[in-house]
Amino acid sequence: MGTDHIRVRVPATSANLGAGFDVFGIALESPADIIEVKKSERIEIEVIGAGREHIPTDPRRNTAGIVASSLEKPVKIIIHRAIPLSSGLGSSAAPAAGVAVALNMMFDLGLSREELVRLAAQGEKAASGVQHADNVAPAICGGFVIVHKDRVISLMPENIGIVAVHPEIVVSTRTARALLPKKMWLGDVSFNTASAASMVVGMMKNDIKLIGESMENRGIEQVRSRLIRGYPQVRKSAIDAGAAGVTISGSGPTMIAVCRMDERENIAQAMIQAFRDNQVKSEAFITTIGKGAEILQKQI
Ligand code: HSE
Repeated sequence: MGTDHIRVRVPATSANLGAGFDVFGIALESPADIIEVKKSERIEIEVIGAGREHIPTDPRRNTAGIVASSLEKPVKIIIHRAIPLSSGLGSSAAPAAGVAVALNMMFDLGLSREELVRLAAQGEKAASGVQHADNVAPAICGGFVIVHKDRVISLMPENIGIVAVHPEIVVSTRTARALLPKKMWLGDVSFNTASAASMVVGMMKNDIKLIGESMENRGIEQVRSRLIRGYPQVRKSAIDAGAAGVTISGSGPTMIAVCRMDERENIAQAMIQAFRDNQVKSEAFITTIGKGAEILQKQI
């Protein structure tokens, strides 16, 4: 017997981590959206919180609505937003992931986590035009996640300081993807492969220095950085303040730094100041790698 009303807490996520374009993602301990799902006569969507006017409530155009439609489940979905919109922190992935997890429980679907990730990724396609799972996978599984073919591999590194600084700049994933090169030099591919391999070892060993040094890529960050005013100064300010590494979170414009837990405040201040020096307001999320979607409450 399922339940009629479920609330799921779904974390913000950061994809790519520099090294693993469309492959790596982490769940952040905060911020998080709350996705509420209730049985209903038809699929309905309500959005509560900042930026709600920018989120489509037509189920065919909303990432969460697409998930409910593909399962043919008539439910009311209420999205309580805390993850900033178009930020590179997985704001479109969180509702899709939350609805997939909620419907799996509500209708006793028995879907595996890989199936849930595939389902939620269909919603992501509506937002970015491409079905990438590097936000929905950590949103569902938590920790550091590697998405490879149909497989989702996850690890839970501990005590990794994360500073995510979101500037008041709007970058859509569609735009940031349109900039990407269609082909890459073999030398750049080798470099990116080496970064990805060392990132995985860094995550396995909880090695902040190795993780930070692996947050680099060729061919992607450079072109996307042009969309982020102040990028070189913010990057330098984070490194000068002690960050082990810094990169664009997902498709941006948020920039994410990895550091020791006790260095996060200083690094956040330095990054905010560097954006301010470029006449850009920003907000910092001082966090760490956290768990995935969590069912908070169910009512029969
Ligand atoms: N991997 C995706 C991209 C993440 O970089 O376009 C989007 O948040």
